[in-house]
Amino acid sequence: MQPFDLESYVARSRALDLTGIAFEDVPRYPLSAEAVRTLVYMQDIETYTLIYLKSLLSTRGIDDPEVAVFLPCWLYEETFHGRALARFLEAAGHRVAPRVLSRRTLAERAEMLATTAIARVWPDFVGVHMVWGAINELTTLTGYRRLAEVAGHPILAELLARIMRDESRHFAFYFRQAERRLARPVAARVARFLVDRFWAPVGSGVQPEAETRFLARYLFSGIDGRAAARTVDATIRRLPGFDDVPLLEAWIAREANAEHAPVGSPPLATVTA
Ligand SMILES: [Fe+2]
Ligand SMILES: [Fe+2]
Repeated sequence: MQPFDLESYVARSRALDLTGIAFEDVPRYPLSAEAVRTLVYMQDIETYTLIYLKSLLSTRGIDDPEVAVFLPCWLYEETFHGRALARFLEAAGHRVAPRVLSRRTLAERAEMLATTAIARVWPDFVGVHMVWGAINELTTLTGYRRLAEVAGHPILAELLARIMRDESRHFAFYFRQAERRLARPVAARVARFLVDRFWAPVGSGVQPEAETRFLARYLFSGIDGRAAARTVDATIRRLPGFDDVPLLEAWIAREANAEHAPVGSPPLATVTA
């Protein structure tokens, strides 16, 4: 992977280009209920970026000049991903209700306060955010690639290809930041501890657990899905202190097979076999 060129990223950052995307032709191709359910989840997560940023801003993240330059561009791009997915869903006949972003659960507020308190006393905490970002961006990027493959909808595939170009730049930023910050052994140890203890796929805690499990099965089942999950894990394991971190594949094996899995989902054996 090349070093991340922040100046060039900022210069090129813009709203997702939808030129030539034939939204009017979306209904001409079949779109499964599973693909719609996945898109609704992803659309919501893209929209939720604003809230995620809010918690990030309450930490020392923006004390860092590079992070402070990156975050506004990142939020801008993610916002347009959410809008593009909503437009696609609407074109397919599934109107997305606007999300109420200000509503927070008590648990979310407590978590945010705890994060803020730790971050204020420990300057290396931003490294934890960078690792989290790297994992989430790579999982999202891989999830979109898998959705394009599994859904088999040509217009969706084109739209996702454009979104994925942004996601891969986001991933590169977070990964390079994490790599540099985790070079400090203490930072690596703490980040690893927190990931081991608290990490769950992007959208966990925001979407119902059953939806995250559904997505894991839909996108990461079968030979190709498992290979994709393994590639995510192998990439993150290149970070200092993360060489044997149990991540997406382990989460899927543990959680996606939970007894609460909705009826009618793909055979669970394909996930763990
Ligand atoms: Fe995105
Ligand atoms: Fe992203």
